[in-house]
Amino acid sequence: MGSVLEVNGGKPLKGEILVRGAKNFVSKAMVASLLTGETSVLRNVPEIRDVEVVSELLAAHGVDIDYDQEAGNLTITPGEPFLAPTDRVERLAGSSRIPILFCGPLLHRLGEAFIPDLGGCHIGDRPVDFHLRVLEDFGAERSAAPGGMRLSAPRGLRARPVRLPYPSVGATEQTLLTAVMARGMTELSNAAVEPEIMDLIAVLQKMGAIISVDTDRTIRIEGVDELHGFTHTALADRIEAGSWASAALATRGDIYVRGAKQQDMMTFLNVFRRIGGAFKVDDEGIRFWHPGGELHAAVLETDVHPGLMTDWQQPLVVALTQADGLSIIHETVYENRFGFAEALRGMGANISVYRECLGGLSCRFGWQNYYHSAVIQGPTPLHAADIEVPDLRGGFSHLIAALSATGCSHVSGIDIINRGYEHFMEKLDMLGADVSLFAD
Ligand code: EPU
Repeated sequence: MGSVLEVNGGKPLKGEILVRGAKNFVSKAMVASLLTGETSVLRNVPEIRDVEVVSELLAAHGVDIDYDQEAGNLTITPGEPFLAPTDRVERLAGSSRIPILFCGPLLHRLGEAFIPDLGGCHIGDRPVDFHLRVLEDFGAERSAAPGGMRLSAPRGLRARPVRLPYPSVGATEQTLLTAVMARGMTELSNAAVEPEIMDLIAVLQKMGAIISVDTDRTIRIEGVDELHGFTHTALADRIEAGSWASAALATRGDIYVRGAKQQDMMTFLNVFRRIGGAFKVDDEGIRFWHPGGELHAAVLETDVHPGLMTDWQQPLVVALTQADGLSIIHETVYENRFGFAEALRGMGANISVYRECLGGLSCRFGWQNYYHSAVIQGPTPLHAADIEVPDLRGGFSHLIAALSATGCSHVSGIDIINRGYEHFMEKLDMLGADVSLFAD
């Protein structure tokens, strides 16, 4: 049974909220802890579904986990892990994409692994071919099994040069987590260099790894025999911060996002200012607000870091429906990230999606059947509607649309949002939103 959120929109969101550690880092640091038997402590851990899923998977392998939710401290002691019972792993099939990253650590510690079928948002095909190629090149053997796949590394894992066809975040992390204890030196070229990856490298360095990062997306990893426990404070969730910032803009509100960090949001902040949003950075966070008057249309292209992050695209599009003029967005990371635009159209937005690349970046999706560019004519007032959440970021964007629309909207499938937005219902309350939750 899902939950439906009734939203009485049209009220500016105002107040202060706290953003804790990044979903897309915390889950990976939890996997890294498995590379040693020693205790690791991760701080600033948010209470989100992805943390629960990774905790369950670690626990299924015999890892001891203690989570103090309020303090945000997660203590992980792998000790001597064992191969998890298949049924406990299968139960987690379809719940997240993180399990694929268990391959390297489990192969190093146990010589074998069983990985459940993956989940995650439906924003494109999301294959794992780059991951599997790395693992196989390093000497892993793989076979399909009901509910997942089995891997083994009878002769251990050996470093190989890796050149990624695209700077994939997950495949870069897969290579890091596999290469740190593989025999020899790995040269990884065309790697992703997102801040969450840099924080994972910091964790691995604390554990005893030797990793260097060049300016040309080349990462060199010297395999070591042994790693140790770490204590680390997770970097803030820049996607969540950008989502609340976009909500402030779309609702003509004023939100102080405690925890938000300027360094990791530079590209977003430039766009936010260009559109007409105002922000002020201090040591504790960033205040985002709508300064009054018209917002300005913009031409945006998503890209790997340091480009404009794809996960900021959807919340920003909602704000751009309120901007004066023609905005053009070219999504170059995922082929299918405009599905959420249909619901916005139903609320009065003027958005058209195109197969063509409407931008200067070279992109893998041009001249195919992927509607990966969008043109938004604004401003168009949004009106209430009944909408179904399609995926995590698209869902939050629907929520922003409902909050800025006049009238009473019903947003169903709202539980998905818990995967990546900590305590979002409480935060909406703190920002003065008029929302109520009903069981479906
Ligand atoms: N790709 C392949 N083959 C692979 C791996 C990736 O073709 O083996 C393609 C993907 O299909 C996609 C592109 O490469 O078109 C980029 O994918 P990437 O591997 O970089 O993404 P990911 O690791 O699966 C992470 C985040 C996403 C975020 C992207 C891009 C996690 C758990 N997820 O995904 O976050 O959008 O990087 O920054 O870290 C979210 O938080 O809602 C979310 C979707």
